[in-house]
Amino acid sequence: METIYFDNNATTQVDPEVLEVMLPFFKGEYGNPSSMHHKGGEVAASLRQARLDLAELLGCDPHEIVYTSCGTESDNAAIWSALRTQPDKRHVITSKVEHSAIINNATFLRRLGYRVTEVGVDRLGRLDLNELSAAIDDDTALVTLLWANNETGVIFPIEEVGALCRERGVVFHTDAVQAVGKIPINLKSLKIDMLALSGHKLHAPKGIGALYVRHGLKFAPFMIGGHQENGRRGGTENVPYIVGLGKAAKLALERLPEENGRVKAMRDRLEEGLLKIPSTMVNGDREFRLPNTTNVSFEFVEGESILFHLSHAGVCASSGSACTSGSLEPSHVLRAMGVPFTAAHGSIRLSLATTNTEGEVDRALAIFPEVIQKLRALSPFWKDGAPALDNGLLNCDDGNCQICN
Ligand SMILES: Cc1ncc(COP(=O)(O)O)c(C=O)c1O
Repeated sequence: METIYFDNNATTQVDPEVLEVMLPFFKGEYGNPSSMHHKGGEVAASLRQARLDLAELLGCDPHEIVYTSCGTESDNAAIWSALRTQPDKRHVITSKVEHSAIINNATFLRRLGYRVTEVGVDRLGRLDLNELSAAIDDDTALVTLLWANNETGVIFPIEEVGALCRERGVVFHTDAVQAVGKIPINLKSLKIDMLALSGHKLHAPKGIGALYVRHGLKFAPFMIGGHQENGRRGGTENVPYIVGLGKAAKLALERLPEENGRVKAMRDRLEEGLLKIPSTMVNGDREFRLPNTTNVSFEFVEGESILFHLSHAGVCASSGSACTSGSLEPSHVLRAMGVPFTAAHGSIRLSLATTNTEGEVDRALAIFPEVIQKLRALSPFWKDGAPALDNGLLNCDDGNCQICN
């Protein structure tokens, strides 16, 4: 049984070309880039080239990039820098649908006495710009928002948010971990102060990330130590991984047309096929969305059971974020969008990449109906090919849910 890997928002396969450029740095090219001798000099040159390649993908200056260990560290560095450089301000704005890297910081900030506002989204997962604008006040130190949602792929209006924040004099950070490499980004034309990314989402290895810090923005390092990264992140550079990320960025830039062409077409065909299964719906705005992601709800079945059966058939998918799976709570993203409980519980995320093929889509489309049918045959809320409930979709919040009661 060959694996069909549709979980590329969780992590991606390291590209063989990325691995190849990394290998010399585990062998002969072991110098410390800060050393004065030739062994250090050679490595420093490779580091400079990698920084240039990543800057080209982002449309920024190479010196605006600070390497980190992952997306989570980049998010933390951005939040804590914004707060430490503006100690008089005690208000942070974010959204209800962020990744745990932001949500858990927001919870911690509240405990420290900060005021945190979480802006809501509509039924399609779209940000309410008016709510965001109304939330900004003189005490606001930071607005931090996802560029693209990891569970639904829905894209926030980052250009408008950036313009609004700049006009109101507020620092704006975006968690672009899912956006980088999947959609075109040109930081020179946007009013973004900081941007987080992670290598393992774009075919580089796990353990490397970066934070874009706009020229001129006051920055307080999260990792205090040596002079590396222009004093913005102490610690000897993770050279092999930085070089790998540079190659991955170069490949991502070359493959952007394929991402928005072949990958999007495969995702759309998969989605259309799945929607033929009764009582199935796509969650999130299907227009302003990453080209590789779909979030589908199969009502009256449990998402975790679907994943188990899919995995048994060779298909890797996930229920929302890899960081929250394992909990049987429905996704906070789908709940914030007002997706009914019965549908939120049966939701799964499928995320494709250039490594996927049309043949895999065909095979998945043959596997899904069987899995869903098998599970629905066991569901007390499904009978004779249709929902066995009088009122169809139920929302637990009204207290009358036939499933919970
Ligand atoms: C939107 C988003 N932000 C942050 C992260 C964390 O990235 P990392 O795993 O590199 O820490 C992820 C990972 O899933 C993500 O999807």
